Amino acid sequence: MGVNILIGLQWGDEGKGKFVDILAERSEVVVRCQGGANAGHTVVIGGEVFALHLIPSGILRDGVVCVIGNGTVVDPIALAGELREIQARIGEVAGRLLISDRAHLVLPWHRRLDTLAEKTLGASSIGTTLKGIGPAYTDKARRSGLRWHQARDRDAFAARFRASLREANRLLGILGGDPLPEQETEAEVMEAVDLLRPHIADTVSLLHARVREGGNILLEGAQGTMLDVDFGTYPFVTSSNTTAAGCLAGSGIPPGSVQDVHGLLKAFTTRVGSGPFPTEAEAATAARLRGDGHNQWDEFGTTTGRPRRCGWLDLVVARYGTRVNGVTRLHLTKLDVLSQFPELKICTAYRLDGAVGSDFPADTGRLLNCEPVYEKFPGWGEPLAGCRTLDDFPPEARNYVRRIAEFLEVEIASVSYGPERGQTAFDPSA
Ligand code: GDP
Ligand code: IMO
Ligand code: MG
Repeated sequence: MGVNILIGLQWGDEGKGKFVDILAERSEVVVRCQGGANAGHTVVIGGEVFALHLIPSGILRDGVVCVIGNGTVVDPIALAGELREIQARIGEVAGRLLISDRAHLVLPWHRRLDTLAEKTLGASSIGTTLKGIGPAYTDKARRSGLRWHQARDRDAFAARFRASLREANRLLGILGGDPLPEQETEAEVMEAVDLLRPHIADTVSLLHARVREGGNILLEGAQGTMLDVDFGTYPFVTSSNTTAAGCLAGSGIPPGSVQDVHGLLKAFTTRVGSGPFPTEAEAATAARLRGDGHNQWDEFGTTTGRPRRCGWLDLVVARYGTRVNGVTRLHLTKLDVLSQFPELKICTAYRLDGAVGSDFPADTGRLLNCEPVYEKFPGWGEPLAGCRTLDDFPPEARNYVRRIAEFLEVEIASVSYGPERGQTAFDPSA
């Protein structure tokens, strides 16, 4: 297998958690490479639901080493809480969870600054997860962030932390925010950092050693291509590169060692937060795609619980994503949700100023004026169950899947039709 990358092709929540878990069966190491506690990756095993935020989804496979890579931003308080919670459910993971010594810390003032920035934007807010992601990456780019290697020395770290906290309180004051109480904040952070200190490691050297030995490594993308700070719907994006290239920069793995890039595509489209969404459906269709919250897979945020905006599949977005990421294996998810519709629509082009095209525009303003051009497909009108290969699907479902592969010029390696590991049909020729 070598090195594999798994990436979301839309606005996140494509079902990455499920597929990391599937691919982790044959992986020795799973690496998170970007983002932080803004991610929410769900794995369902025998009806038991695990929602992972900072811990790589490979943690649920015995013996898999999980790395929180150098490109991530890690909130010690959030990670300590998540670690305690997962250990209470699956037992000790000591030695299986490593935090890159080059990763940055997300600290309480980053969360507070995130909230303040959103408030200031008012009606034009991004709709962030309020996990402090943007402010932490801002500090990284400003070269003023704290990195995990500094936490190895408790006293030196405490001194750096206090200086940063005072500086942050000054900034919060200027911006009209409340300052953080110094002693309480320090005590809370230090308690979490003390718990996590044994997990700090030189993960770049460790990964290079595994690459040299030909080990199976899975890079677990977070968010999705349309939330990438360069390629997404800027400024309505997250603050990191969430594409395949970001997985390399965020782990230290060299490009030449990558075997496959697995692109995950939900059979319809969702997004949480603000920003353009050309195929967003009208209220009634969106509500049917979303579900009422009764099922665990209904479209409500795994991290924030917010209802997700929903619409038809957008292949302009997907083709842009397969190209930016160099997708070699495509996985379609949540096809089962479409079983309820007698007729389905897929967007294959945008109409803008009278012209029809399928390039994805950089300008958010232009994107807002794009009108989707749809192809229509008959539904299959029956639930999907027990399908082992793509040949087992009803003809209308096969037709829907075939059109996607043809348009994207990438073979579909598997189609997921439920949250469990077994609810997946594979390409019979693979
Ligand atoms: P991620 O962020 O990409 O890992 O995705 P999320 O976990 O945020 O959201 C995906 C949701 O869909 C989760 O509740 C999964 O359990 C669920 N899920 C994954 N694949 C399928 C599928 O094929 N069908 C259905 N119904 N649910 C799925
Ligand atoms: P997973 O990994 C969906 C969105 C937020 C917001 C924007 C910026 O589960 O797919 P941020 O807090 O990152 O500054 O928010 O990005 N967002 C996600 N949407 N899935 C995610 O992660 C997301 N992570 C961030 O809703 O619109
Ligand atoms: Mg998610």
